[in-house]
Amino acid sequence: MASATILVLNGPNLNLLGVREPETYGRETLADIEESCLEHAAALDLAVDFRQSNNEGQLVDWIQEARESADAIVINAGAYSHTSIAILDALKACELPIIEVHLSNIFARERFRHHSYVSAVAKGVICGLGGQGYILALDAIAYLLENEAPKD
Ligand code: DQA
Repeated sequence: MASATILVLNGPNLNLLGVREPETYGRETLADIEESCLEHAAALDLAVDFRQSNNEGQLVDWIQEARESADAIVINAGAYSHTSIAILDALKACELPIIEVHLSNIFARERFRHHSYVSAVAKGVICGLGGQGYILALDAIAYLLENEAPKD
């Protein structure tokens, strides 16, 4: 069987990782995280489609496309996690396993970050572990695809 494809989606301002508030988000760049994800996915026999956009509509379009082109989604929607019903609806409609990731521990930060719309449709949420969270999310997806995917 061809290896499963995981769409790894990153929302607004995550393109600035490495220079943006390093005390909160660390020094790793998004390119560093992408490289680690590609390497780890290869070891799990998964393919990764890694993307970032600052635009809510673009993220919604990519989630809609994932219905056809991906087997699961890992998403760090950045600030849209706390605001976007459009992203929640798109994730609901795609009917794929979803793992939500945040680099920072959103529960140890301002109250407005404690609620995430994405969490309502995520199988699991990983936060506070920096870039390692993406790697753990890929492990979780590999486990879910192996153990919960409908067998045909
Ligand atoms: C973030 C947390 C969000 O609250 C914030 O708006 C981000 C990044 C994280 O990865 O920790 O942009 O999603």
